Amino acid sequence: MRVSAGLILVACVVAATLAEASTYDDFVAFKKQHDKLYASAEAEAKAFKNYQANLERIVELNRANPGTTFGITRFADMSQSEFGHKILMAPRAPVVHEAARYAPKLDVQDIPESFDWRQQLGGGAVRPVEDQGDLGTCWAFSTKENVEGQQFLKHNISITLSAEQLVECDYNDCSGFGGWPYLSYQYIMKNYGLISDDQLPYCSGLAYGKPGFCWPCLASPWNFTMCGDESDYNNSCDTTRHSCGLVTPQNVKATVIDWFAVENNATQIQAQLMTTGPLSVLLNAGELSLYHSGIYSPMICNPANLDHAVLLVGWGVSGSKPYWIIKNSWGPTWGLDGYFWIGRGTNKCGIESTVTSSIVS
Ligand SMILES: *[C@@H]1O[C@H](CO)[C@@H](O)[C@H](O)[C@H]1NC(C)=O
Ligand SMILES: *[C@@H]1O[C@H](CO)[C@@H](O)[C@H](O)[C@H]1NC(C)=O
Ligand SMILES: *[C@@H]1O[C@H](CO)[C@@H](O)[C@H](O)[C@H]1NC(C)=O
Ligand SMILES: *[C@@H]1O[C@H](CO)[C@@H](O)[C@H](O)[C@H]1NC(C)=O
Repeated sequence: MRVSAGLILVACVVAATLAEASTYDDFVAFKKQHDKLYASAEAEAKAFKNYQANLERIVELNRANPGTTFGITRFADMSQSEFGHKILMAPRAPVVHEAARYAPKLDVQDIPESFDWRQQLGGGAVRPVEDQGDLGTCWAFSTKENVEGQQFLKHNISITLSAEQLVECDYNDCSGFGGWPYLSYQYIMKNYGLISDDQLPYCSGLAYGKPGFCWPCLASPWNFTMCGDESDYNNSCDTTRHSCGLVTPQNVKATVIDWFAVENNATQIQAQLMTTGPLSVLLNAGELSLYHSGIYSPMICNPANLDHAVLLVGWGVSGSKPYWIIKNSWGPTWGLDGYFWIGRGTNKCGIESTVTSSIVS
């Protein structure tokens, strides 16, 4: 039978339209699942476009990264650059501290094949996974989660500390404190300590209009180039909110007296993790938004572009591949119950380059 070109063309158009319609249905389900609210029809159309582009990107990521599974996540309606400027920090190179800041070398005789703070001492050194929402506040979570672990290991107190305090009060970022965990420890040292999340719950990353949201303005030393472009956020911010008065010597639930760094050496980091507790680390998280499972190990991942701060809690081996276990702050339904694995021993994406801990009193 002769099939006319016209008929083939019609068939293709119908197939494409059907595929598009089913993608649109998936997008509607995605919006519902992730409770997405778009400000306008244009914003929603753009989100759908990004979603479609991300479906293609997922196929490509899965092809290029055997051993890692990528798929739809709540960030699937963002382009990579939107994800970068909204959720990640502006990329910066690892900071080299003065020699005295680094912990002395530890004995590395008895390092086990796997280790996980979630399975040590009843898991009290690692609090439940939280969600930073749609704001680049990872550094506040990484910092206070390290302090939570220290507070448990030193005082047997397992308490969720306030990330909001850091976001609202440790705002000077690059010009002073904040932005990076080692700077945030210094803010905490100079400002009595950290209060609890019950006293000042996280609210600034919640979507505008969601129950419980708060959008405190960024203080003026914030530099959009250096600290991340939060101008969309700051355009609708609340000029009347001043929560930092809650931070008093009577209210604080943990106090920090010092901090230290760990040299860029996977074996030393393992020993230090076992000795100290969960450690604050940074990485280049450019391809992490669509991660589902496996060992995150992108071929190209410049370790000098650190844009995300997280918490190192353990390590393991899968097949013959060593990995770190990392707690993220993108909610408990992202990745491996809120965690991800990343290649260990090669400074993958810079993960071994910026390891720090607070010391609590
Ligand atoms: C730590 O606290 C828990 C309950 O909060 C208690 O059961 C346990 O005995 C304490 N451990 C130590 C070593 O004090
Ligand atoms: C954020 O908004 C507030 C209130 O409009 C303004 O005072 C402040 O300068 C803004 N911050 C930046 C970094 O633009
Ligand atoms: C922000 O930081 C960039 C990069 O360091 C610098 O060039 C710029 O002058 C800063 N802007 C302000 C307003 O301080
Ligand atoms: C890393 O530390 C281990 C244990 O201290 C040591 O044996 C090894 O030589 C170090 N590696 C490098 C590259 O310095």
